[in-house]
Amino acid sequence: MKKELYVGVMSGTSMDAIDAVLVSIANNTFKTLAHHSNPIPKGLQNQLSSLCSPGENEIERCGQLDVLFAELIARTVNTLLKNETLLPQDITAIGSHGQTIRHHPDLPKPFSLQIGNPSILAHNTGITTVADFRMADIAANGQGAPLVPAFHHSVFKPEKGFRAIINIGGIANITILNSSSIAPQNTALKKEEEVIGYDIGPGNTLMDQWILRHKNEPFDINGCWARSGQVIPSLLKHLLADIFIKRPPPKSSGREYFNLAWLNNYIEGQPKDEDVQRTLAEFTAQVLANTINHETKNMSCDVFLCGGGVRNTFLRERIDSLLPKNKISTTCSLGIDAQLVEAAAFAWLAKQTLRRLPGNIQNVTGAHCSKILGGIYLA
Ligand SMILES: Nc1ncnc2c1ncn2[C@@H]1O[C@H](COP(=O)(O)OP(=O)(O)OP(=O)(O)O)[C@@H](O)[C@H]1O
Ligand SMILES: [Mg+2]
Repeated sequence: MKKELYVGVMSGTSMDAIDAVLVSIANNTFKTLAHHSNPIPKGLQNQLSSLCSPGENEIERCGQLDVLFAELIARTVNTLLKNETLLPQDITAIGSHGQTIRHHPDLPKPFSLQIGNPSILAHNTGITTVADFRMADIAANGQGAPLVPAFHHSVFKPEKGFRAIINIGGIANITILNSSSIAPQNTALKKEEEVIGYDIGPGNTLMDQWILRHKNEPFDINGCWARSGQVIPSLLKHLLADIFIKRPPPKSSGREYFNLAWLNNYIEGQPKDEDVQRTLAEFTAQVLANTINHETKNMSCDVFLCGGGVRNTFLRERIDSLLPKNKISTTCSLGIDAQLVEAAAFAWLAKQTLRRLPGNIQNVTGAHCSKILGGIYLA
């Protein structure tokens, strides 16, 4: 197969930026070539996050933002192409995740809704666009998430032993890869060759929401504010005992669940704001460490981190100290920049769709069958 270029686009729970990455895909190689990240303006962030919970005139607001967000994604992709002196016809397809405004995989009629209209995106870029990746998996009774494990499996699979990939985005998700597993390009994974993957709990989202409320800052740079506080043991204990954290996979989550209303259920009295931030950082680090210990038992397992949380130095220190036996680094040491893994995954998923290959892993999402994900929108 000759080399093809794809663009993957992601904007996650944190709503910090639209990340677009240019990748080249050939038979056995996957390479990230360039990227462009476009911060989401504050006003738009506010409009998007208010759409994440029920409110007035939602259909109109959703329709408007669907178009506006698609225009912003298109500008991000067009800038990336311009920077790389590429033309639309050089790109096979865009894989666009879109901005999640509701993710409800556990309702009687489950759904997951991403906006950033793919018809507008295809038209404004002149590039075939694959989007709406999650509903095909949900149609087959899956969680619709996480979808990145199949990509992790394709590009990060170890030659021997085990490897854990942990994305610390708004929500954190884990993938455990095992050298004996077979790539899902051509077949669904066999039961005994399972890849483990699920959302483990909050990554940055609670820390982001707490610092926004109390200091009007979008995130806790390098975890400095958290570092200045003390862990509140009773709060940490309650957070760790939360029903989602304790629940076995398959599971996935979002801001619909992990938000300040959820946190307020557990806060007692009037603790210092920085102590709550410190406890939230500890919560994220401990859930992550407990999950690794639980999934790997006593097997040796190298851990590779990715996502914006990698930049939170205090969080990194806490993770390192809670996992003294594991070698911990980032996906950069596996050849993909830690900030680009999620966007790159959607480029890969678009390739799967165009080739009529599955993108989900049944064991991860809980779907009844493997599915070709998403819809294809021609330019
Ligand atoms: N220097 C930093 N110090 C502390 N935290 C940081 C820093 N840089 C980024 N972050 C955190 O990373 C977050 C963004 O991470 P990322 O883009 O991976 O999340 P996301 O958009 O929710 O993505 P996804 O849902 O795809 O995983 C920011 O909201 C912030 O919390
Ligand atoms: Mg982001």
